Amino acid sequence: MTESRDWYKTAVFYQIWVRSFCDGNGDGIGDLYGVYDRLEYVRSLGVTAIWFNPLYPSPNADYGYDISDYCDIHPDYGDLAQFKKVLDRAHELGMKVIMDLVINHTSDEHKWFQESRKGKDNPYSDYYIWRDKPNNWSSVLEGKAWEYDELRGQYYLHLFARKQPDLNMDNPAVREEVKKVLRFWLDMGVDGFREDVINFISKKEGLPNRIGVIPILDEMKYYKDGPHIHEYMAEFREVCNEYNAVQIGEGPMTTVVSALKYLTGRSKSLDMMFSFDHMTADCLFTEYVHLPFKLARLKKALSKWQYQLEGKAWNTLYLENHDHPRVLSRYGSERHHRESGTMLAAVYLFLKGTPFIYQGQEIGMTNIRLMSIEQYKDVSSKNNYYSYHLKDDEQSRLRRIHLSSRDSSRTPMQWDDSDYAGFSTVPPWFGVNPNYRAINVKKQEAESDSILNFYRACIRLRNSSPALLYGEYREHNSKEPNIYSYSRSLDGEVYLIICSFFMERLPYIVPKQFRGMKARLLLTNYPAKRETGMEFEMPHTGFRVYPYEALVLRIS
Ligand code: GLC
Ligand code: CA
Repeated sequence: MTESRDWYKTAVFYQIWVRSFCDGNGDGIGDLYGVYDRLEYVRSLGVTAIWFNPLYPSPNADYGYDISDYCDIHPDYGDLAQFKKVLDRAHELGMKVIMDLVINHTSDEHKWFQESRKGKDNPYSDYYIWRDKPNNWSSVLEGKAWEYDELRGQYYLHLFARKQPDLNMDNPAVREEVKKVLRFWLDMGVDGFREDVINFISKKEGLPNRIGVIPILDEMKYYKDGPHIHEYMAEFREVCNEYNAVQIGEGPMTTVVSALKYLTGRSKSLDMMFSFDHMTADCLFTEYVHLPFKLARLKKALSKWQYQLEGKAWNTLYLENHDHPRVLSRYGSERHHRESGTMLAAVYLFLKGTPFIYQGQEIGMTNIRLMSIEQYKDVSSKNNYYSYHLKDDEQSRLRRIHLSSRDSSRTPMQWDDSDYAGFSTVPPWFGVNPNYRAINVKKQEAESDSILNFYRACIRLRNSSPALLYGEYREHNSKEPNIYSYSRSLDGEVYLIICSFFMERLPYIVPKQFRGMKARLLLTNYPAKRETGMEFEMPHTGFRVYPYEALVLRIS
């Protein structure tokens, strides 16, 4: 591995789901013109890299994850020239850019699929997974995993939505196509890829029926980390190596043991992986199963990945993305908006790994509550709603959707308090959260103690210290049900992070090894109550923290 690729270890990523980021040409849809105008803003957060969700032409059955052309830009978002302009400007500002690589499936409107449907003698015939008889698998987003195609007279596999047929990665021609796509974007100058559901691309021969009773989970062993995955990944790695491109895999349901196979050793094919354990602390895929939320589950998952990758591989750090509701509405409190929004920044920005901030997270955007299922756009939200037990009434179905919908994180970015939140000059493609007059970028720019400015402060602090970048992680007070506390240390430099997930004051018990030591307060989300820079002796018992308080202390 070359050193020059290691830039990702000190990077802070910002994730842009372009459709809802900023509308630059006044048609109600976010685009690359709007992105261009906001690049300075993104950079001002301390961000040094951008991950774009899919920008390619797509019928939007799964909002860009159903790609109909890998080597172009969706006309809603601009064109290749505009993308290049954004890319060059991002580079000028000191930000790398990575693209979303979605190769488990294409759109059914992709030329390859349109050809493949035509019959077994078509050159694209084996680009997809066709069977005369379906097996009993379920798809992640939409009902059964098989759909009958009239023209071909066979069923095709779709692990996700119906309009997302799975590519047949066992076909060498398909892998060559993938490499062409990699080269296309790398030649243009992109710095790497976020690789969508990458651990699903190699399926077990024969596609055996699920034996267990739990749809999706019980059949996953037939396609998660499948038999040829590391061979295929090695082929793609070779291309990326030529360009020193960074590769970050999305690894749904991955375990540490299997993640390490992608991240280390001879089969190393990814620089980092998005693990899911901490995201399933309260939910499974797009459904909420572990309610009420218990901090213990979240702490355990975060610590597991911190400990088990230590010295071996590098973590991704994230709490939000386009597949989950807003974190403030999940793990924080909308009533304690500023406090819990800032606290949630400290929860993960000081962990070991590379942080990802999802657009709007930095101002504490919250879940939207739409009044009818027709107003939702996301395929899984709609399907979940209609799959609920029929005896559930509309209101209780909607409550479940309010909790779980991916659309909650896909509402237009709240830039200011003007009409449509400054996202667009016309009614946007999807509902603006009505709280935009209170929660927006412009307002938080002006407030020194805002969530936005707290993100900036966290990133500055993180970058100022080798211990916060490379130091060892240790969890403290692990039995405490409402506080997450951890330290990072390197060569005697120790930082202690304390985060309260509770809406009232709480005692924090000082861990034994820190009692009586000197502490300096480096960061607090209660600037009116505590003085940054203040020095004190760590009490021998504990001290009280404020509701949703976050503290970063330097211990010596
Ligand atoms: C990933 C994406 C998600 C998409 C799915 C299928 O999980 O993040 O948005 O629906 O893959 O491509
Ligand atoms: Ca537009």
